[in-house]
Amino acid sequence: MERVFSGIQPTGVLHLGNYLGAVRNWVAIQSDYECIYCVVDLHAVTQSYDVAAMPGRILELATGLLACGLDATQVRLFVQSSLPQHAELAWVFTCVTSMGELGRQTQFKSKSEQQADNINVGLFAYPVLQAADILLYKASRVPVGEDQEQHLELSREIARRFNARFGATFPEPRTLFTSTPRIRGLDGAAKMSKSLGNHIAVDEDEAVLRRKLASAVTDPARQKRADPGHPEICNIYSLHKFFSDSGSCQEIESACRTAAIGCVDCKKRLGDQLLAHFAPIRERWRTLRERPDEVRDVLRQGQRQCQQLADATMAEVRAKMGLNW
Ligand code: TYM
Repeated sequence: MERVFSGIQPTGVLHLGNYLGAVRNWVAIQSDYECIYCVVDLHAVTQSYDVAAMPGRILELATGLLACGLDATQVRLFVQSSLPQHAELAWVFTCVTSMGELGRQTQFKSKSEQQADNINVGLFAYPVLQAADILLYKASRVPVGEDQEQHLELSREIARRFNARFGATFPEPRTLFTSTPRIRGLDGAAKMSKSLGNHIAVDEDEAVLRRKLASAVTDPARQKRADPGHPEICNIYSLHKFFSDSGSCQEIESACRTAAIGCVDCKKRLGDQLLAHFAPIRERWRTLRERPDEVRDVLRQGQRQCQQLADATMAEVRAKMGLNW
């Protein structure tokens, strides 16, 4: 079985972008690959954050992932900082990565603009730690959203460079995309993300969900209720395509083009579909929240299982680099 690795940051929200771009794939492939999934808290500390809230966020995200359908008997789920080998391998990789390559990463450039008062070295080296996460387990497939392609390209380059300098050690990991690898935010322009505040959470409260949808951008040509719409450019319609069945989608599409329905009605229907789709996940999430020790046990078990692989890779890396006196 090919090995899969992927990670998600405990930023406090699991949103539709994470879910449609990555997490639903994590669940879909869990019996087809040997899957390792990680709550990447060391990546999250490259942004300013509330220290007191972090333990809760880590646990809440792990709970949400299990609620989305990850099966702890099939996958390994753990917290990045519980295995220091991630940071150790990241250091090794910083020594085969050039400053120029890191400076060209679009995510570094956009995050630097978003957090101009906190452009720390960790933010700069973020993709190196990501490469270490994946290669520590010699994973060959990485289910992520499209925004991670450039980071994965760098992971491949790092693997190649390490192999060329110290001998064949790492595979070149490839992305595994879903059919919706890039979800736009409610502004209809940028990708959906917590830091841009244009997201809908998987466990969004109904009133908040309806309010967020009400102010979401649709087809700019539909100024008035009677204006015919262009569903192909409307972000709300693109979400319908995932959450509504094909019959409803066809009906909405033609009703939008002929102005038979307005955006308010279209958004109401999407809200209904979202609530119905996520109801079982929200229910499982609620139940699991009451049993935090069960979630901690899953994370500890994942840590133990991953530790053996991490130790083996680091022993090999040290030997290949002449650090095994
Ligand atoms: P994070 O937490 O920012 O995102 C988690 C996953 O969600 C996907 N995603 C999206 N997909 C489609 N449309 C969107 N609007 C959207 N927003 C987020 C991301 O592509 C990602 O798959 N750097 C990684 C975390 C990481 C990682 C790793 C991933 C750390 N180490 C090793 C894979 C392998 C990230 O973006 O997390």
